[in-house]
Order: sequence, then structure tokens, then C-alpha cells
Amino acid sequence: MSANKNTALIILAAGRGTRMNSELPKVLHPLGGVPLVVHAMDSADLAEPERTIIVAGHGADAVTKAVREYDENAEVVLQEEQLGTGHAVMQAQPALADFDGDVLVLFGDTPFISKDTIEKLLLARANSDVVLLGMDCADPKRYGRLVTDGDSLERVVEYKDASPQERRITLCNGGIVAADTKLLFELLDQVSNDNASGEYYLPDVVFHARQRGLSAGYVVCSEAETQGINTRADLAIAEKLFQDKKRTETMDNGVTLSAPDTVFFSYDTVIGRDALIEPNVVFGPGVTVESDAQIRAFSHLEGCHVSRGAQIGPYARLRPGAELSEFTRIGNFVEVKNAQIHEGAKVNHLSYIGDAEIGAHSNIGAGTITCNYDGVMKHKTTIGERAFIGSNTMLVAPVNVGDEAMTASGSVITSDVEAGALAVARARQDVKPGLARRLMDKLKAIKAKKG
Ligand code: UD1
Ligand code: CA
Repeated sequence: MSANKNTALIILAAGRGTRMNSELPKVLHPLGGVPLVVHAMDSADLAEPERTIIVAGHGADAVTKAVREYDENAEVVLQEEQLGTGHAVMQAQPALADFDGDVLVLFGDTPFISKDTIEKLLLARANSDVVLLGMDCADPKRYGRLVTDGDSLERVVEYKDASPQERRITLCNGGIVAADTKLLFELLDQVSNDNASGEYYLPDVVFHARQRGLSAGYVVCSEAETQGINTRADLAIAEKLFQDKKRTETMDNGVTLSAPDTVFFSYDTVIGRDALIEPNVVFGPGVTVESDAQIRAFSHLEGCHVSRGAQIGPYARLRPGAELSEFTRIGNFVEVKNAQIHEGAKVNHLSYIGDAEIGAHSNIGAGTITCNYDGVMKHKTTIGERAFIGSNTMLVAPVNVGDEAMTASGSVITSDVEAGALAVARARQDVKPGLARRLMDKLKAIKAKKG
């Protein structure tokens, strides 16, 4: 099941998730900015699966669309009726009929399985035909119990079917199974639903393996790793756990978080050494921040890249496609979307820069807007190097402003400005001496007359 052995991954995700009280399939609820099921896929990454099969129920189309965003080769099979975890795995059999290698079964609503645990499972497969994940539980609740004999696993008994004596076992089933693919399906063929729940139990494969004289083993992980999500409250607790882990990891990587509890990460946030993250910063998916960058308070970033030494915020918003070169500055109440801001350029106050390219060392004055959308299509604004865009300039795209060009404050720029030129595109100022006073006196007189 290592690099020299093919592995298939099956993720069970057909459960109704009734207790989420949601139209959205449970496994698509986000944790750290991505669907729960993606966390399960990510845990299993270490096994380098050749095939990934998600067993979905309601909302299979939505599940397919979501998982393909993370792995375009992921396959989704349908389990029309939820007849148990064993039945769910069987739904993947046609897809894996010709597959030669091992299979790893995970639950889609269990996002915290560590790579370490997966590695242990893979290693344990060298000694056992079937390997299960066990967990030692202080309070074993209604989990399935592992009946063991030393290192060997005899069978798994579900809580509902367990004798009082078996219920005293604290070593529980964490849900993951690893075995040879063909063998697992053969064993599942023998599993019946003659039990307290009337379901086909996946862990029953252990009993059938032992009946055949095959070996079964287990590895143990902490209960925290197998924490499943069943309710919105569980999801909130999981999010907290996820964020705490990410904060610690980020600080261990040499990043200063001045108020860690107020910074929120996505599963894939990458931040370089000696970067500084101030309070109340939110990282959506797809953000990379390089070393020595500063993300100041109350900024929101997603799908963007911030290079070394850049300074963002406070109160900045970087949206997908924002690409900031070294030593750029994005100030307060500035929104940047799908735009390259080249080295040392500054957009310091109250601007919208969308679908644009801004050359190195240009300065974009306060209140500048790229008018990129005509109601139907988006258009591009290109600004050269060392240009100076006066405050409150409207850049009506498509439009180009050359190197070292300037625009006067308040200009509405509708056609290209060549390099080195100054564009003034506003009404000329007209001053009428004394007129303000005369006008006020007249208005006051009218009011007095009316009483
Ligand atoms: C299961 C295990 C139990 C273990 C526990 C750990 C079985 C029979 N029991 O119990 O030993 O201690 O997990 O959390 O496996 N699913 C389907 N289709 C189905 C049924 C379930 O896709 O027909 C999926 C669910 O969406 C879920 C996962 O399988 O992701 C586990 O199902 P769940 O009903 O939560 O199993 P438990 O009763 O908790
Ligand atoms: Ca469960």
C-alpha cells in the first residue's frame, strides 16, 4: 500500500446528515474553507491513491461538482438507500472491479485523521490481511467495540449488538479499514444485515476474515482524530479545533500572529517566515503570503499571492487573482481583484482595482476606481511604470495609461493616455466672486417674508 503498491480510496459520504438540518449534503459543509469531504481526501493523500471513489447519497451531483474541484479524477458512485457502511462500500465494487491493489475506506464526515495515522495503517497492512483503525475512548459512547486478542483483532461488535461485558471495552472502532480490494469485496459479500440495526456493517469483514483463517490487526489513534461531524455545533467545534491547529502551525513556522485567536485560516493558507499578521484577519482559500509581508488588522484575503515585504491593510480586501509583487502597498478600504500590482506600486486609500495591471512604482491616488464592468463584460485597465494616478480618477476600461503618465484628480479617463502625458478629464473650475454671499442673503430674505 506504499508507493510500490496501487491504492484505491473509498470515502463514505451517503449518510443523510439529518441532524445538520440542511439542504446541503453534510460532507459539503465547509471546514477551514473547504468541504468536509476534501479533508478526508487530503488525509489519505499520503497513500497516493490511484483511484478515489466517493459514495454519495442525496445531493450526489453537488458532491461530484465539489470534489472534482480538488481532484478532477475523483469518481462518485451513488448509494440510493443507506443500508449501512458495508452496503455503502459495496457500491464502489463495479467501479473497482478491475482494480488490483489495496483499498482504504474512510468516512467523509471525519476530517481530522492525521497523515501519521494513515502511515501507521499502511505499515500495519504488511502484517495483517485486514487492518482497522482503533481508538481508546475515555467515554466509548455508542461506538463499535474492538474485540481483540493481543495484537490480533477478533471481531467488531456494534454498541447496539454488544453484551454488557462487551460494552465495557474502551477500544473502539474509528471507522477506517484497509485491505486488499478484491478480498474486501469478497468479505463484504458474506456480510449480512442480521443485527440490531438491520444494516450491513463494514466492520463485520473482520469476523469473516478470521473465519477464513486470515489475519486482522488494528492501529490506535487518539479519539480527537476520529471526531465526526453530525450537527452544526459539532461543525463549530471542529472549526475551532482546525483554526487552533493552523494558528499553532503558522506560529511554529516563524510567523507572528499578534492576536492568534482572531485570525482565521483556510486549509491551504501558506505564510512565509517573519511575516506579521495583525488582529482580525481572515484568509479564504488559495492564499500565499511570502516572508516579511505584513497583513494589517481587519483585512480579508482570498485566492491571492502577496510577495515578500508587501504591506496590506489595515482594512484591505484582496480577492481572487490579486497578485502583489514585492514591497507593494495596499492600504485601507482598498479592494483588489484579478490584478497584478508590480513591485513597489502603492494603492493606499479607498480604491477598487479590478481586472488591471499596475506597473512598478506607480502610485494610485485615493478613491481611484477601475470601471471594469459595463453591465455585460469585464474590461482591463493597464497602467505603466512610475505612473501617477490622481485622487478620485475613474479609469473606464478598456483603457491604458503609459509609463510615467499622470491623471489629474477627479478625471474620468475614457481613452488611452500615452507615456509621459498628463491627462485632465474634468470640468474647468469657474469662480464667481461674492456670489455665495449674495445667494445666501437672498434665500434668508425669502424665508423671513414667508414668516
Ligand atoms: C460507525 C461504525 C462504528 C464506529 C463509528 C465511528 C459501522 C457499522 N459502525 O458507526 O463501529 O465506532 O462509525 O464513528 O460501520 N454511511 C454511508 N452509507 C450508509 C451508512 C453510513 O455512506 O448506508 C456513511 C456516513 O455518511 C458516515 C459513515 O458512513 O460518513 C459512518 O456512518 P455512521 O452512520 O455515522 O456510522 P456509526 O453508526 O457512527
Ligand atoms: Ca458516526
